Amino acid sequence: MQEWRICPSILNADLNNLESEILKVSSVSEYLHLDIMDNNFVPNITFDIERSEEIIGFSPLPVDVHLMISEPELTVARYCQAGAASVTFHWEATASAELVIERIQENGSRVGLAIKPKTPLTEVSHLLSKIDMLLIMTVEPGFGGQSFMTEMMPKVSSARTIIDLMPAPRPWIQVDGGISLATIETAANAGADTFVAGSAVFKAPIPAQMILDMKKVLESVRLG
Ligand code: DX5
Ligand code: ZN
Repeated sequence: MQEWRICPSILNADLNNLESEILKVSSVSEYLHLDIMDNNFVPNITFDIERSEEIIGFSPLPVDVHLMISEPELTVARYCQAGAASVTFHWEATASAELVIERIQENGSRVGLAIKPKTPLTEVSHLLSKIDMLLIMTVEPGFGGQSFMTEMMPKVSSARTIIDLMPAPRPWIQVDGGISLATIETAANAGADTFVAGSAVFKAPIPAQMILDMKKVLESVRLG
């Protein structure tokens, strides 16, 4: 049976009241998505390592860390040691993806590998058997609130075809960027099973209701 996961991103939540923002979604979500930016790999900056450790510490949801930072090999271990359930790094950000994968594994978190819109799937196909999740970006990383890139769906479908032929446990396919009630069905039909949603959730009048509505759409995809 198809399993879905929704990972609300707090990038566009009220950052001065993060604990209460997270509580708004914690009973209906599978993971909390934490975007880390270094103003180098992407032109924006978010939480430093100390603040990330605090958030991982107080989040009632398991935390899905998305590192948009250069040279993740230098810092991945700290996010794992802070208790991140999963740590995702970008293929484009490192010359040593295999080393980053090993460091995350050694430190006990799930391994996620992300690719930007312009990076073809073929660049990372040799790594699919070593990771727990492939993140196919559906916007250019760096900012919340951008439009979903439908043109990424062939990449998601190809990943789904390849991954379904692999022996279990198979990596999850996550999409991140522009996921909303209007786009989640398209992403699910293409083969994504794990959905990051930032502004669609936290700008909704009742964030938890938005997540439940997204899950209703996913249920209708499941039933075909
Ligand atoms: C963008 C981040 C996303 C962002 C998504 O670089 O990786 O996780 O928070 O925000 P929305 O859902 O608003 O596109
Ligand atoms: Zn993200």
